[in-house]
Formats: sequence, C-alpha cells, structure tokens
Amino acid sequence: MDDVAITRRVSESQSERSEIIFPADANALGNLFGGRLMQFIDLVGAMAASRHARAITVTASMDHLDFVAPVHVGDLLILKASVNRAFKTSMEVGVKAMVEDVRKQQLRHVSSAYLTYVAVDREGGGITVPQLICETDHQRRRYEDAGRRREMRSGEVLRKKRLREQLGAEWNL
Ligand SMILES: CC(C)(COP(=O)(O)OP(=O)(O)OC[C@H]1O[C@@H](n2cnc3c(N)ncnc32)[C@H](O)[C@@H]1OP(=O)(O)O)[C@@H](O)C(=O)NCCC(=O)NCCS
Repeated sequence: MDDVAITRRVSESQSERSEIIFPADANALGNLFGGRLMQFIDLVGAMAASRHARAITVTASMDHLDFVAPVHVGDLLILKASVNRAFKTSMEVGVKAMVEDVRKQQLRHVSSAYLTYVAVDREGGGITVPQLICETDHQRRRYEDAGRRREMRSGEVLRKKRLREQLGAEWNL
C-alpha cells in the first residue's frame, strides 16, 4: 500500500510520562536542572512521534521551549506529548510539562516545548509518515499553528544549511 495514503488520529499517539524528582537532578536551589527537564521532554516527545510513525524517530530540533515555573525536588512531574502535525518525513510534537499537587489534586504548568522528529529507517534514511487526522477544535488549532511554525523554521534551517556549505571547514572553528 502507498504510505502517503496512511492516516492516523492524534489520539493514537498521545503519550504521557511521570517522574518523581530526586536530588541528583537538582541544582543548589533544589530545583530541577533545565537540561534534565529537556531530556524528559525529548523522551516523551519521541514516544508520541514514534507511535505516530510506527518507526524509529530522531530529534531534528527543539524550539519554543519555555520554562514557566521551577520544579522542586520531590515534585511529581507529568509530561504530555501530542503530535501537532505530520509533514513528509517529519512531525511537530507539542509537549507540556506539569507538576501535580497530589493533595489538592491540581496541576501546575511548568514548561512547554515544540519538537520536530524525523522518521528514519535502519540506515538513517527518512521515511514518509502517516498524515494526521484532527478530531477536535483544539487539535485543529494546533495543526494550523504547527504549519505556521514550520514556515518560520524552514527559512532558518535553509539559511544555516547554506552557511554551513559556504563556510565548509571554517564552520567548525
Ligand atoms: C534531522 C535529520 C535527519 C535531517 O536530515 P537532512 O538531511 O537535513 O534532511 P532533509 O533536509 O531531507 O529534511 C528531512 C526532514 O527534516 C526536516 N528538518 C531538517 N532539519 C530540521 C530542523 N533543524 N528542524 C526541523 N525540521 C528539520 C525537514 O523539514 C524535512 O521534513 P519533511 O520531510 O517533513 O519535509 C539530520 O539532520 C540528522 O540526522 N540529525 C541528527 C539527529 C539526531 O541524532 N538527533 C539526536 C540529537 S543527539
């Protein structure tokens, strides 16, 4: 069957991950390191992308990463990832990180990010991903926004690619 004809619903790949924050992941203030949070975000994003593509995926970029509020040692961190849009071989995934107050049963938003993953075969070559089916207004809004972000991202990716080619070995200095 032609891969391009395959479609998948947003709900089929939505992913969630929970973590209790330990002191080894914290800075001197007792807050979670930003880099560790980025790792958690990347992992849950990759789960959603790989589920959507049903393939190995690699992270091409992470952008619009906002650290809204600190995460403390002992906090219960909840991360939710959803594919916002599938392109040809790439997908934009939105990740939202929240801290759950288990006593009050409330969630506090701490971070959000958009990541792009590329589906690859065993040799690292890009493979076509299924197109996304949005079923709610919220999903449709995220789909539209992802298209706008891709346009902005593409210009910058192309500019950097050209610069790398122009500079050749100088790029590494
Ligand atoms: C991401 C990667 C596969 C792109 O390879 P490439 O040769 O530049 O591929 P192309 O230019 O053909 O682009 C392939 C897709 O990736 C997208 N893409 C490439 N660079 C991108 C970037 N920086 N941000 C977002 N999307 C990007 C393209 O838009 C294209 O999407 P489409 O097929 O849906 O239209 C390649 O750069 C790579 O393997 N990077 C390392 C990935 C990795 O190891 N990640 C873990 C970090 S340690």
